[in-house]
Amino acid sequence: MKVLGVMGSPRIGGNSDILLDEALSGAKEAGAEVEKIILDKLKISGCHDCKKCNETGLCVIKDDMQEIHKKILEADAIIHSCPVYFWAMTAQMKAYLDRWTALFDAEWRWQKAYYPKMKGKRIGLITVCGDPNPHTADPIVHSFKSTADMTKLSWLGAVMASAAEKADIINDKTAIGQAFELGKKASQMQKK
Ligand SMILES: Cc1cc2nc3c(=O)[nH]c(=O)nc-3n(C[C@H](O)[C@H](O)[C@H](O)COP(=O)(O)O)c2cc1C
Repeated sequence: MKVLGVMGSPRIGGNSDILLDEALSGAKEAGAEVEKIILDKLKISGCHDCKKCNETGLCVIKDDMQEIHKKILEADAIIHSCPVYFWAMTAQMKAYLDRWTALFDAEWRWQKAYYPKMKGKRIGLITVCGDPNPHTADPIVHSFKSTADMTKLSWLGAVMASAAEKADIINDKTAIGQAFELGKKASQMQKK
């Protein structure tokens, strides 16, 4: 059982990072092997929409996303954590998500070779915004939930929290607890 954590904030030790660590602790407690990747430390270009991947399932852009594609395929569950930047996800997270394109064919179905690994894979999300209303992050939830719905991934749900300054989230015991539970759920749910 492998749970992959994908961190979309450039602020290491910040709110998204702390909540993702909690989720991965929950997953570990439930028996999973966990790995965290910090997108900001990697080189990930945006999708070029060249459509070459439609035939091959391989992206022509030679950057760190090649390795991440492998990690996505191997994980049983993926938990993303991302702050709100201008009412949307960060550029790092958007570049990463757009590059999922290589996993699909021209009809936005999983590439045949990837289907057995992607079918029913669990996907969850953590969002943090400076606004006291955590629903400021609804557009990020919409992106990930719609991706899950379109591709028949198994949606684990979203933990949505508010915190502005770095590491403020440690005072939000509810969000910390919810993130931990999300991680546990990621490792417990049966793959369909
Ligand atoms: C470039 C930038 C844009 C931001 N835009 C928003 C925004 O539109 N709405 C909001 O509620 N918070 C916004 N914030 C605040 C962050 O979401 C908030 O500080 C969050 O806690 C950062 O999470 P992190 O510690 O994981 O990086 C913005 C922060 C930055 C740096």
